[in-house]
Formats: sequence, structure tokens, C-alpha cells
Amino acid sequence: MSSIAFTNIATLVTNDVSSGDGVLGVLRDATLVVEDGLIASITQGEPSGVDSVIDCAGKTLLPGFVDSHSHLIFAGDRAEEFSARSRGQKYTAGGIASTVDATRAASDSVLAHNAQRLLDEALASGTTTIEIKSGYGLTAADESRSIEIARSFTDETTLLAAHVIPQEFKAEPHAYVDLIINSIIPQSSAKWIDVFCDQGAFTPEQTEAILRAGISRGMLPRIHANQLSAGKGVEIAVALGAASADHLSKSTAADIELLASSETVATLLPGAEFSTHLESNLGRKFLDAGATVAIASDCNPGSSYTTSMPFCIAAAVSLLGFTVEEAVRAATFGGAKALLREDIGTLAVGKKADLVLLNAPSYIHLAYRPGVNLVHSTYKSGRAVTSWQK
Ligand code: NIG
Ligand code: FE
Repeated sequence: MSSIAFTNIATLVTNDVSSGDGVLGVLRDATLVVEDGLIASITQGEPSGVDSVIDCAGKTLLPGFVDSHSHLIFAGDRAEEFSARSRGQKYTAGGIASTVDATRAASDSVLAHNAQRLLDEALASGTTTIEIKSGYGLTAADESRSIEIARSFTDETTLLAAHVIPQEFKAEPHAYVDLIINSIIPQSSAKWIDVFCDQGAFTPEQTEAILRAGISRGMLPRIHANQLSAGKGVEIAVALGAASADHLSKSTAADIELLASSETVATLLPGAEFSTHLESNLGRKFLDAGATVAIASDCNPGSSYTTSMPFCIAAAVSLLGFTVEEAVRAATFGGAKALLREDIGTLAVGKKADLVLLNAPSYIHLAYRPGVNLVHSTYKSGRAVTSWQK
């Protein structure tokens, strides 16, 4: 049994409202002891009989960020498309096709190295759990290798074969839906099934058929909904008991109410709002309605090319109407909820010791010092990690 004590923690964010102050369950000058990768105690006293001690004087310790939405298996980038948006061009689903071409042409090792590079960025900015989607392969073989590469990095893998209708099926979209249902889903080892239900992507009928096919194979549903236009995605997600509905930029008041009265988490993607079309105050609408809210990076080469959850926290606060506390909670506790994970996102006895130590006296600095990497170190199961590993 190995034990480690984090002592003199200036600010400890637990997300456990029964043990600390406010929505973040904050404790001051606390000591957190980890034994065999799990949290063994949280006290305000001196630790005894531990193998090692980390003095956190002046620093903040919080749950590692849980990034519940990313698209890391791709090749190439779309910097020119981003630049065109800075000159007024609108974001559409159409850009995805160019990443599909680059991804299909890339070797497994190019795809794996690109994902590793992004995961190492994420780790350096405090992410300890990440969900990774396929969706830039769009053939049985390319979706399957995308999921296999994702599985080498995380247990939270999502089949997004229903990202867009690939070029070769444009004349007969139903044939691609059939391929997903009859061939890609049955061959997939992904945990989650996702559909981009939106203008230029999949219709509500196609979405429901694909999600149901995944569910019947033991996959768990989640959805991209209302990113580009209001539609039936939220209704479908709630009816099928999806863990999360993501994007939600164009949601109607009825969608917001429906999500707030359901178990489905509302996952907002500040990086995508930042780099495409800003829906300001989006967060307030969901938070005021009482929805459980997560924020995630949505890292992808088109709409949100960032791996940084601290950036997403800062953007959620300054652009989407979150308070700092709501944003920090959404990036930790909310992400865990969106992945149906009870073992992470909260610091309490028995939970996984996935932690991020900040070179700052308060979590407020995550939003107050935008663009500055305040992460001193990231711990997974109590071990300091510098490169992504399971
Ligand atoms: O979540 N909305 C669909 N998929 C991605 C964007 C994909 C792309 O533009 O390459 C998203 O934003
Ligand atoms: Fe996405």
C-alpha cells in the first residue's frame, strides 16, 4: 500500500457540498491523503504515517478536469477555414469532409501520434479523463480503426459514424444509414453511440434509428443537437435516456425546459461558441432553468481546436454567462455526470485521486488569468503524470 499526503492546500475544491463551502464544496488549508490511488481522507490536520508529502502552500487542488466531448482521431488541420471565419464566413457541417479525406489517407500511426500530441496537451492543462469520438473515417474500416486508436487512450470511446453523410453516399443517404446500422455498429467496440442531428448532417428519423441500433447492441446514447439549427435532437435524447445532449446553441425554451426536467446533462462547448458563432449567455439559460450542465472542449480541427479546459472555463465565464464556480463545477462534476461516472469529478473518501494542482491561490484564477497555464501538476490515481496513459 502506498500513500501520499497533499498538505497545506490553500484552496481545496471538493465538489462535495456536504463537506465544504458553496457549490464547489471549498475547504481552506486542508490535507488530502491518497492511498493506492483512492482518496483515503480529507482533514484539516497534520497527516501521519504517509510515504510522501506534497506541500501545497499557496496552491489550489481540484478534481482533474473531465472532458466529456472530444474528436481527437483525425489528420490535418483547417486553419484556412478558421481564418475565413475571421473574415465573416459562416461555420457549416460541410468542412468536415476535408478532414474525412485527410483522415482516410493517414496511417494508423499518424492518427495515433496526433491524438497522443493532443492528449499530452490536455494532460498538461489538467484533464484527467477524456471522451474521444470517431467520426472522420465514415467507412466501416476507418470508423473501426478510429475507435481502436481511441481505445488505446481511454475507456470513454464514442462511435460517431453518423457525423455527416460521406461524399460517396450523398446521392443515397439512406444507404449510409443502413451501413451504420447493419455493419458499422455491429462491428464497433465503442462504449457510446452519438449522432450529429442537425442541418447538413442527420435527420431526426435517421438519428433515432441509429441511436436505437446502438442501444440494442449495448451502447449508451449521447447526441450532438441544436448546434446549427433548432431541431428534434433534444427530444430524442431525453426520450432515449441519453447521458448528455451536446452543443445546444440554438435550443428553444422548450428544449431547455425539457433538459432541465430530465436526467440528461446539458453539455455546452465554449470553444465551439468561441470559434464559430457565439451564442452569448447560453450557459445562463440552462443554469437558470436548473439543468445539470457540463462544459467540454469539443476539440476538433473545425469548430474548436483547443484541448484546454481552463480556456473553456474562462470562455464559459466571459462569453456564456457562467459564474466562475458554475464553470469549474461544469468542467469537473458536470463532465463526470455527462459520462455517468461516479468515481471521478468529486474529491471525497473512496473517489479516484484524479487531481490538478494549480499554481494559484484560488480556482478563480482559472478564469481571471485567461491563456496562462496555471497547472503545476496533474495526478491520475494519485500519480503525477506527464504523458497520457490509461
Ligand atoms: O462537435 N458538430 C459536429 N462536429 C464537430 C465539428 C466537426 C468539424 O467541424 O470538423 C463539433 O463541433
Ligand atoms: Fe462535437
